Amino acid sequence: MVLKGKISIITGGARGIGLSIARTFAEQGSDVAICDVNPDVLETSKKELETTGRNVLAEKVDVTSMEDIQHFIQKVLDKFGKIDILINNAGITRDGLLVRMADADWDAVLNVNLKGTFNFTKAVSKPMMKQRSGKIVNVASIIGIVGNAGQANYAASKGGVIAFTKSAAKELASRNINVNAVAPGFIDTQMTVSLPENLKNDIIKQIPLGRWGSVSDVAKVALFLVSDAAAYITGQVIQVDGGMVT
Ligand code: NAI
Repeated sequence: MVLKGKISIITGGARGIGLSIARTFAEQGSDVAICDVNPDVLETSKKELETTGRNVLAEKVDVTSMEDIQHFIQKVLDKFGKIDILINNAGITRDGLLVRMADADWDAVLNVNLKGTFNFTKAVSKPMMKQRSGKIVNVASIIGIVGNAGQANYAASKGGVIAFTKSAAKELASRNINVNAVAPGFIDTQMTVSLPENLKNDIIKQIPLGRWGSVSDVAKVALFLVSDAAAYITGQVIQVDGGMVT
């Protein structure tokens, strides 16, 4: 129970990597507050998380809306009294070749993935600075490190998340707040389920460990980064990619 008594916020926590992180943290003793723009599965996910015996808050929040975020954070503080951990996980893709990319697809991806991370980090920084402790983990991507044809918007957003992580780590370190990132490779979720089978097979050939990652592969690294075991780690990007990018 390495997170006993902790309060964690996970954005985009209704499914996929975010839900797995929420489940892992709850199993380790943390009460969890999940938020997501898609209300459909929030209630089911809340019920699933409650089977761990922890307290769970689940709310509809769009990470691009500061109004939604402030409202949510106030609810978390009213219910739990503090915020120890923030996982900036909400993310989207709108893939396409850059010469044909609509402005709306560029803006949507940058707004959710990068601005959403800024918005939430800014909002939790105040309570964390007051309590002089906190752990923030941003979910980036290896695409933000190496780039990918057809994902200029996504790569730019995740590269931005990595640069943002390093800057926030430097700013917040004096208040005992650690800010790190995980950079997953290819993980089996709704985000990747629609990739064509032949592309999936090609991708596996490029992964030295010979398999796609699972959501729990990412969740376990996030758990390490928010635990006391990682107390002296900040501003780092940990790749969870089966050795794909070295
Ligand atoms: P997913 O699509 O299953 O989950 C993303 C969640 O974020 C969804 O529940 C969605 O409703 C929510 N979301 C989207 N826009 C939002 C907004 N404006 N406000 C609040 N919530 C919003 O995808 P997955 O795979 O679990 O992705 C989680 C994170 O991991 C994302 O940041 C993604 O970019 C990143 N990632 C995923 C990889 C993969 O292979 N699946 C690889 C590398 C990074």
